Amino acid sequence: MNHLLKMLDLSKEEIVDILNLADQLKYENKNGIQHHLLKGKTLGMIFQKSSTRTRVSFETGMYQLGGQALFLSNRDLQIGRGEPVQDTARVLSRYIDGIMIRTFEQKEVEDLAEYGSIPVINGLTDFCHPCQVLADLMTIREFKGRFDGLKMCYIGDGNNMANSLIVGCLKVGMEVSVACPEDYRPAREVLEFAKKYGEKFFITDSPLKAAENADVLFTDVWTSMGEEAETEKRKAAFKGYQINDEIMAAAKPDAMVQHCLPAHRGEEITAEVFEAHADEIFEEAENRLHAQKAVMVKVMGGEKE
Ligand code: CP
Ligand code: NVA
Repeated sequence: MNHLLKMLDLSKEEIVDILNLADQLKYENKNGIQHHLLKGKTLGMIFQKSSTRTRVSFETGMYQLGGQALFLSNRDLQIGRGEPVQDTARVLSRYIDGIMIRTFEQKEVEDLAEYGSIPVINGLTDFCHPCQVLADLMTIREFKGRFDGLKMCYIGDGNNMANSLIVGCLKVGMEVSVACPEDYRPAREVLEFAKKYGEKFFITDSPLKAAENADVLFTDVWTSMGEEAETEKRKAAFKGYQINDEIMAAAKPDAMVQHCLPAHRGEEITAEVFEAHADEIFEEAENRLHAQKAVMVKVMGGEKE
């Protein structure tokens, strides 16, 4: 694996491989066993959008692996003043060992990988959020012990999270149902990909139908970063696309709830459901650290024998 650009690029085996290493790193981390697998290496972290989890988990993860991370904000880099990403890629490749980037266009991430000569990790674009979905899959397997035979239901905006979850969950063998308003469906290439899975994929505009017998319920904000001007329009469009008691009653009695965070209580999820499933949601947040350490080890070398 050279880069992590999107879930569509990964095979089932590569995903499971990352998750296995993430489980191992988590166990070792909890037991005080340190592996400086990236000793002497530097990760540049380019942020063109805000972040709490991604920034802190990458920076801490890199430190735990014996390397260091540089926080490169859009406000400080020349990229923010228009220096082409193709040039930035070639310059950074001469100083550092890997790049994590959070930005708007997926093309920018793909260009960084094409023009640079070091691994690139996608820390979220408008199209996808693969690091988050690897942590989500890790959490599902941790709580449920398997993927086969499980049904994941996503309710809300057909955004970066929906795009990555659909692909990731189908690839590992889960059934996927999605409820979103007609005008906010996931990306065309994701729907094309999902079509190949036949009855294992179901999309509707009815949250209740999608939630039927679900083992895992996911949602995300109605307004993603960069869409703030549409907030009011989106509040109207997504009314009813909420994980609440009625939705929980339609799912399996032992259904778990996941949210990538930040969450807006009273919008995509009620405060009651959020708090009742806080253990699962914050384990998911913790797993960002372990899953990303596994990704960095895979793409930046130094994998354990
Ligand atoms: N879930 C997630 O990516 O969180 P941040 O935006 O805080 O990084
Ligand atoms: N869909 C959200 C995810 C945040 C982690 C956004 O892009 O803002």
